[in-house]
Amino acid sequence: MNFPKLFTYFDKEYFSFEQETLFKKSPQYFGHKLMCPMPNDYHSIEWLNHAKLLYNKNNQLQLVDNICKHRQAIMLKGKGNSHNIVCDLHRWTYNPVNGQLIGAPMFDQLPACKNLEIDPLQEWKGLLFKSDRDINQDLANIGQYANHINFENFQYSNTIITDYDFNWKTFIEVYAEDYHVDPFHPGLGNFVDCKGLKWQFGDWYHFQVVPTKNALNKPGSKLYQDWHKKVLEAHVGVNPDFGAVWMTIYPNIMIECYPKTIVISVAVPTAPEKCRVITEFYYPDEILGFDEEYVELQQQVYMETAKEDDEICYRMHEGRRTLYNAGNESYGPYQLPTEEGLMHFHKFLVRETKLS
Ligand code: FES
Ligand SMILES: [Fe+2]
Repeated sequence: MNFPKLFTYFDKEYFSFEQETLFKKSPQYFGHKLMCPMPNDYHSIEWLNHAKLLYNKNNQLQLVDNICKHRQAIMLKGKGNSHNIVCDLHRWTYNPVNGQLIGAPMFDQLPACKNLEIDPLQEWKGLLFKSDRDINQDLANIGQYANHINFENFQYSNTIITDYDFNWKTFIEVYAEDYHVDPFHPGLGNFVDCKGLKWQFGDWYHFQVVPTKNALNKPGSKLYQDWHKKVLEAHVGVNPDFGAVWMTIYPNIMIECYPKTIVISVAVPTAPEKCRVITEFYYPDEILGFDEEYVELQQQVYMETAKEDDEICYRMHEGRRTLYNAGNESYGPYQLPTEEGLMHFHKFLVRETKLS
């Protein structure tokens, strides 16, 4: 079995090794083009404590340093549109296209200093990655399920940042199996029908696709009851063509499609027993700004399900810690097909960290 050894969830040295071997070569997600749709739009990245900006340079998105070269202040917070980056503390001004300092009040000559660092970003379906790998090649010939990930006429809505006290792999693992959906998610388990689960696998990703359940006529929780009603209303009585499409881009990026909703999440490792999960919500033009109730309900049911998943993650983490401290490696077999994604993810980890 390829199950990761317990120390890989707790050990500091392994954490550094994983950063070096796995994350250095893996695609790092920084945001979506819809956060900066127009030329000269910028958007500071809150989950990086605003240390970086997304910047739209003639419809090419790039990552720009947002820490002033003068007294190290964070310069811009939030989003806007500008030809320059101005640090309003002492008004040093930079060109966001190349990062050069172009103005420094009361200096006879421009001070010599390094440019703001610029990183080009690769784009796949508008998702923006920094990567040494060719992301479009990794995700080429990806098959029909990718057609559901379609941001046409979508807008960025909002981001939620959550810090957790468990290893990042635990989060991805829970997301990579459907075995727990019926027993542990009364709401979600009656929105999607895991009996209709379909998988698709590639070296750097997997897809899970599930249809809606019982034509959305039997909601499993109070919130989901309102959500089912709302979804049916928004689809004029026609059942949506899927309940959920869940894609994981390895190692730590997740894309979730629900009716008239796309959610992008990334589980960023911050310490062996800590990770930061960033969750971004996107909706079509016809919903965002027009049907606030749809957005509200979607995020409420999403959080209901996320809280249930949090409990799973914490309980697995606690159990593993006890076993790890006792030097007791033990785990059960994969249930197939519901845990096939988990098995595939573990194989990926073994392959890319050269552990066996
Ligand atoms: S800290 Fe930015 S101009 Fe001084
Ligand atoms: Fe779950």
